[in-house]
Amino acid sequence: MNAIPDRRALQLPLERFDVSDPGLYQNQSYFAYFDRLRQEDPVHWCAESRFGPYWSITRYKDIMAAEVNHQVFSSELGGIQVLDQPKDMQRPSFIRMDPPKHDEQRKVIQPIVAPGNLANMEPLIRERTRRVLDQLPRNEEFDWVERVSIELTTLMLATLFDFPVEERGKLTYWSDVAIADITDPEAPVHSEEARFAELKVMAETMGRLFNERKAQAPGFDLLSMLAHGEATRDMPLREFMGNLALLIVGGNDTTRNSMSGGLYALHQHPAEWDKLRADPSLIPNMVSEIIRWVTPVIHMRRTASRDFEFGGKRIRAGDKVCMWYVSGNRDPEAIEEPDRFIIDRPRARQHLSFGFGVHRCVGNRLAELQLRILWEELLARFDRIEVLGEPRRIYSNFIHGIRSLPVRIPG
Ligand code: HEM
Repeated sequence: MNAIPDRRALQLPLERFDVSDPGLYQNQSYFAYFDRLRQEDPVHWCAESRFGPYWSITRYKDIMAAEVNHQVFSSELGGIQVLDQPKDMQRPSFIRMDPPKHDEQRKVIQPIVAPGNLANMEPLIRERTRRVLDQLPRNEEFDWVERVSIELTTLMLATLFDFPVEERGKLTYWSDVAIADITDPEAPVHSEEARFAELKVMAETMGRLFNERKAQAPGFDLLSMLAHGEATRDMPLREFMGNLALLIVGGNDTTRNSMSGGLYALHQHPAEWDKLRADPSLIPNMVSEIIRWVTPVIHMRRTASRDFEFGGKRIRAGDKVCMWYVSGNRDPEAIEEPDRFIIDRPRARQHLSFGFGVHRCVGNRLAELQLRILWEELLARFDRIEVLGEPRRIYSNFIHGIRSLPVRIPG
């Protein structure tokens, strides 16, 4: 079910399509643009935008093909968002690197999400989820994003970094700073300079903990892993800033928005709520369907390392190339009835929300674990959660973010 069928998308000539407009995601009017692009011009050139010219890849199979071809579609040459980081404020991180350096740094933090470690973390995640849910008010309106989604993901992040829990609000703030569109009136920063300054404060705060951990025996948190990893222990300041921001945003906004977006999706599809109540063993499958439906990361960008023929188009060395996950996840050639939210859909995990190839989300199993536990505990407590209004969404073409979602639990 597409939120607002956009008549403009049906009338506008394709050469004037600019899907990098963050307003399309804030007001959920992007679906019809991508429906047309997939059908009429799946590899599309936008000659003019606020972010400069760029290609759009919109079909599922083309996104997969670009993802696995990191030799041509580089993450290092220009970054991972249609928005460029200013040249004098670059913050390299392993998501913005190509192999082999990417692989060496990714390997350092990989053990945090190894199956054994996830199993160790499960009781803690469950205990916290119970506590957060048990403290929710009854018969009273509250904001699901603030009380549940932010609280749970930030507690998780504090654990991953072994960061002081009482200061966890800083992690949420830095994450919001890192992804903000500076033209959004509600953004926490309004210039690249202000963003850089705040992320420098983050790096200083985290740097103190990093140095402490370096002096201690290796521990099982992200900072200790980075401090003892051969590929990461001597990172220059900019790279430290970049990698920290990556791990904070990666572990935070995405899962947060799946928690909010999932509840909203069920509210919009009452029959799926009924299905879920009748059979809670559907939860793991539903979690994948939620992650597809929400598509928390709207796009990832690559830069062509050389001239390349792709989908019948001539991409030139240096061109920006955006892979629109929001579109690939709604491609009827890859996903049956993609515009329906179906919690028991077969092969629900075959979505593009975690990307693919060498950069495929390192935290995907952790995200699924957190969401599974949330839904298990939620179903065990509440018969119903009423959504009282529309979600307020952030102004971004990168993170599909929900700022607030008013709800009430009948008591
Ligand atoms: C990479 C999505 C949760 C950490 C990515 C990518 C996407 C993504 C799209 C880039 C993939 C590509 O370029 O092919 C998501 C979604 C999540 C989620 C939708 C939740 C529903 C997490 C969590 C963590 C995390 C919980 C924390 C541990 C990372 C990191 C990378 C990454 C470190 C960079 C991987 C690399 O470059 O090798 N994620 N993510 N993510 N994610 Fe996630």
